[in-house]
Amino acid sequence: MTTLTVSLGARSYPIYIGTGLIADPDHYRPHIQGGQVMVVTNETVAPLYLEAACAALTGLRVSTLILPDGEVYKTQDALNRIYDALLAERFSRDCTLIALGGGVIGDMAGFAAASYQRGVAFIQIPTTLLAQVDSSVGGKTGINHPLGKNMIGAFHQPRAVIADTATLNTLSDRELSAGLAEVIKYGLIRDPDFFDWLDTHLMALRDRDPDTLAEAIRRSCENKAQVVAADELENGERALLNLGHTFGHAIETGTGYGNWLHGEAVGVGMCMAADLSARLGWLSAAALQSTRNLIGRAGLPIAPPPDLPAQRFLELMAVDKKVLDGRLRLVLLRAIGAAVVTDQFDPALLRATLGASGPVTDAAFGIVHELAKPVL
Ligand code: NAD
Ligand code: GLY
Repeated sequence: MTTLTVSLGARSYPIYIGTGLIADPDHYRPHIQGGQVMVVTNETVAPLYLEAACAALTGLRVSTLILPDGEVYKTQDALNRIYDALLAERFSRDCTLIALGGGVIGDMAGFAAASYQRGVAFIQIPTTLLAQVDSSVGGKTGINHPLGKNMIGAFHQPRAVIADTATLNTLSDRELSAGLAEVIKYGLIRDPDFFDWLDTHLMALRDRDPDTLAEAIRRSCENKAQVVAADELENGERALLNLGHTFGHAIETGTGYGNWLHGEAVGVGMCMAADLSARLGWLSAAALQSTRNLIGRAGLPIAPPPDLPAQRFLELMAVDKKVLDGRLRLVLLRAIGAAVVTDQFDPALLRATLGASGPVTDAAFGIVHELAKPVL
């Protein structure tokens, strides 16, 4: 087992990475507050891992809540079901919530923990690759709004992250690939050696070689923990973790939550960010090609959905948490391993990036001009 630390002073916490951790009480006990525990999971994960998690919690008052599965249920209604259960069972402020599942469950249970009685303890048990390398670490929690992805939420750090890599054995190939998008992201934004390592080890990852997967998870979490420790509330460097996400969130919202997996949309979004970076003259043609190749070899799409009109794409990109003072900011690449957040891009080049996937009308393009104009 590997243990990493997210260093946030009094709110520092461990990330445990290894096999068989779900069933081991030692990984939970030091991080559980009070005697009341609620394990929040979904109908897919529950039959696989809920029993093992509960067995590790003997001696505590344990409740379970099984939500429907899917991004389409990352909603206020599902969140209310968590509050309803907590209130109905008289959970007090010294309780602990445990999120058992992928990023959807982690984000929702985390937001419930952030807001229930103004904040209670919670533990993340991520069971997808995406959640083990990204969403369970760093304290971003929340739900979707019909008008924008992840638009309602809070920062609330977990007490511990317990990443049991054996859970990845039951994950579908499509979900594994979706998780690889966020792994590749770390190489692209800040770790060129990791990008090269991924290039070499990609097939072993897709074949689920346990040691290779554990190494990819460790290096991803190391990168994320460093970024979060330096900029917990995303006032600067943390925004780099959103490479591809402005494009990707537009795809997820525009195609209807759940039709494109988050990781698939991020994979295409990273290709689009790389494309725009190359058009700006920042990224070499060879680096653009390497980026596309690695994402494609990970089993991810590299082109946006043809049926998402550019006008809609731009409208959705405008509803992004990186829009500040009315200016659209994007994470772009100066090189593989060197990302920047910038509003200094020629909108005509963004038009070309979007146009590469379909026609862009002048009317649609006006939205980008409006967002990119200087704020007085
Ligand atoms: P998910 O939570 O929907 O899980 C994917 C699918 O795999 C679901 O059907 C789930 O039930 C199933 N599943 C989970 N574990 C399994 C297992 N071990 N075996 C078999 N099936 C399993 O999706 P995800 O990709 O884990 O997470 C995506 C979500 O995470 C998005 O909502 C995204 O916005 C969010 N996210 C949050 C952050 C953050 O920092 N908070 C970062 C990245 C992504
Ligand atoms: N997934 C982006 C972040 O945690 O900041």
